[in-house]
Parts: sequence; C-alpha cells; structure tokens
Amino acid sequence: MLALPLKAVSIVPMGIGKGKLIVGNWKMNSSPAADSALLECFAKSSASFGTATVVVCPPFTAIAAASKILAGSPISIGAQNVHWEASGPFTGEISPSMLRDVGVDYVIVGHSERRSAFGENDAILSKKFYAAMASGITPILCLGESQSERENGLQSAVVERQLRAVIDPQKIEHFGNFAVAYEPVWAIGTGKSATAEEAQTMHRHLRSVLADIFGEKFAEDIRLLYGGSVSGSNAAELFAQKDIDGALVGGASRKADEFLAIVASGT
Ligand code: PGA
Repeated sequence: MLALPLKAVSIVPMGIGKGKLIVGNWKMNSSPAADSALLECFAKSSASFGTATVVVCPPFTAIAAASKILAGSPISIGAQNVHWEASGPFTGEISPSMLRDVGVDYVIVGHSERRSAFGENDAILSKKFYAAMASGITPILCLGESQSERENGLQSAVVERQLRAVIDPQKIEHFGNFAVAYEPVWAIGTGKSATAEEAQTMHRHLRSVLADIFGEKFAEDIRLLYGGSVSGSNAAELFAQKDIDGALVGGASRKADEFLAIVASGT
C-alpha cells in the first residue's frame, strides 16, 4: 500500500478560492411537475457553472424529490427554515438532522418574511443558526433594513445590530462555516433592487463589522450575498462589486432562464 504523507488538517473558511454562491429561494412555490422541469434544466446546465456554487431551497415537502433529481449534479439543496431541537414534541417543526437525512447542506435563517410574519426574533434565530451549524448545515443569515429605516438613514446601524445579535465568535470558531445575506426589505419581491453601489456600501460595512469580530483575514472569507430583486439583468453589475460574493434569489429562481443567467454572471 502506498504511504501517503500526513497532511495538516485545518478548517478552511468557505469563501477561500471559490466563486460566487448563488442560492435560489423558492419560498412557498412548488408543484411536482414545475419543480422537476426546473431542476432537470439546472442539472443539465451545471457543467457550465464553473466556479459558482449553486444551491436550491425548495419548500420542505419538495426537498426529497429535489435531492433525487439533483443527485450526481454539483447543485446543493438548502431549506428555508429549521427548528433548533433535535426531536420531540414540537408539532409542525423540522429538525436539522431531518434535513440532513434528505440531503440538505444549507439553510436560510432569519429571512425578513419569517422575522415579520412569524415573529422570529434574534434569540430564536440565534438558536436556529447554531443548531444548523452543529449538524453540519451551513446557515445563511439574512438581515436588512426596512424602507422607513433607510429613509431615516438607519440602515447601517440596523444591519450591524442584526449581525452582532447572532454572531458569537466563540461559537463560530467552534462550529464552522456560515454565510450572510444582505436583503433590504424594500427590495424583496418589489422589482426594485438596491443599486450596485448601495449594496456594495452595505456589504463593505458588514465586512468591517465581521472584521471587528473575527479579524480581517477571516472576514474576507465569509461570503456576503445580496438579495432583493436580483435578476438576469442586474446580477453582473452586483457581482462586480468587491464585497458581493453571491446572491439570494427569490422570484427569479423559479424561472429557468433568469436563474441560469444569474448563475452565468457569477461563474
Ligand atoms: P426576490 O426575493 O428575489 O423575489 O426579491 C429575494 C428573497 O426573498 O430572498
């Protein structure tokens, strides 16, 4: 048997040497026929994804079927929500290990729709975030200001507070990787994306907060996604910004041509 030299094992932050991370959030949209047509189309196109990492987040009921269709493709599966307990009397909830069992590698945590419509606060989000990580699922922490917060010039303070409320450097060092998605609430589902410059300004700010928490080097490797009306026509400009490492895509992720155009901009 060949003796292999021993290699030092180190935890490599997910951003190192990688292309854009592009995540499709299907929200509560799914039907078996439409889902498989979409996923088969993505799987067929995946040879051209290059350095981009592509993740699709179907509703819970569609995850197992999606995993089957995407098996053998480089496309990963994400969930849109998770509970923090492993099992037990939590009617209607889904645990991290259940998600692992159906092939989930990522989970969206703290989407503004969950914060506003389902009362998810920082304490709840924090539990979800670390429970996902502990199970080997990469959480994507969403944050962003509302229209009125922006009108009052509060956007930087709001996202910094949302980030610091969940990110605890000691827990992160212990558990591994995560990503952050900046999603201004006024840009979600409105067709009115932040401009590339507005998004870059906020991403720079988030990066500097992360640098304050973790130090420059680690902060550079954390992937910061932009979300809010990303489309095939604005993705390239957004991705050209220094601190935009990918996108969280809602509406356009259910349209094959649009989503593939976004991915093509990130390869
Ligand atoms: P949108 O949604 O792309 O439809 O604006 C983004 C999101 O909610 O993650």
